[in-house]
Amino acid sequence: MTGDLSPIDKAKFVAAKRAADFVEDGMRVGLGTGSTAAWLVRCLGEMVRDEGLKFRGVPTSTRTAELARDVGIQVVSLDEAKWLDLTIDGADEFDSDLNLIKGGGGALLQEKIVATASDQMIVIADVGKEVESLGTFPLPVEVIPFGWQTTQALIEETLISMDVLGRNSTMRMNGEVPFITDEGNHILDLHLGRIGNPRQMAMVLNQMPGVVENGLFIDICDMVILGYGDGRVELRDINEGTVEHDKLDFVESDNLFTDLAD
Ligand code: 5RP
Repeated sequence: MTGDLSPIDKAKFVAAKRAADFVEDGMRVGLGTGSTAAWLVRCLGEMVRDEGLKFRGVPTSTRTAELARDVGIQVVSLDEAKWLDLTIDGADEFDSDLNLIKGGGGALLQEKIVATASDQMIVIADVGKEVESLGTFPLPVEVIPFGWQTTQALIEETLISMDVLGRNSTMRMNGEVPFITDEGNHILDLHLGRIGNPRQMAMVLNQMPGVVENGLFIDICDMVILGYGDGRVELRDINEGTVEHDKLDFVESDNLFTDLAD
């Protein structure tokens, strides 16, 4: 399948490949979930195989765990690793403060726990993920199955007093049945249009009984690596206030590009 990649997939790949350079021998690394994170896992697998890179990976979903094992990464649980040097993950949206919406892949709970337990979080993204205000992408909220419709009603009622454009929410489905997360919960997607105060929104949502976690990642991400379809990457570091540019030679290796699961 080499040569068949869309510009977006190329952008995701170069962002992931550049991020893989941040992984060093001996590190404990959180491995994100989603199509961009899947590129990262494959890049790291290649480095383990070809360069003898030795690190332990903590996956943020069963999907990522399976892929990581398949490509030869040593997988450990978060409790085994205890604390992580670095987490690299994708995002659905990010703003200029590097606040994020995550959870499009349904893994926001483990992703947030893992990212929060890391010295550094790097987000890898294609350029379409950058937004002026968060909220065009529906905000995922993980809720426990018990009384989920009551929780949904409570959320919608609370949204009346919040600075948002839309207030309706939908249960995420997997075909005919509600989607079930790795932790056995459901996801409500909130169609907000624009979130005026993401920090307040994150706090308010997490105070509701029935809500387990929301997909707003506030002050968690340290760097975004933005990929472009022509191999350019941009590294934005929020702590240093720096922006670096780089360009990767785009070489599609057969091992990396076959059978991409995500
Ligand atoms: C999964 C996530 C993903 O990081 C997010 O959905 C981005 O996915 P992709 O890299 O496929 O665009 O939060 O829960």
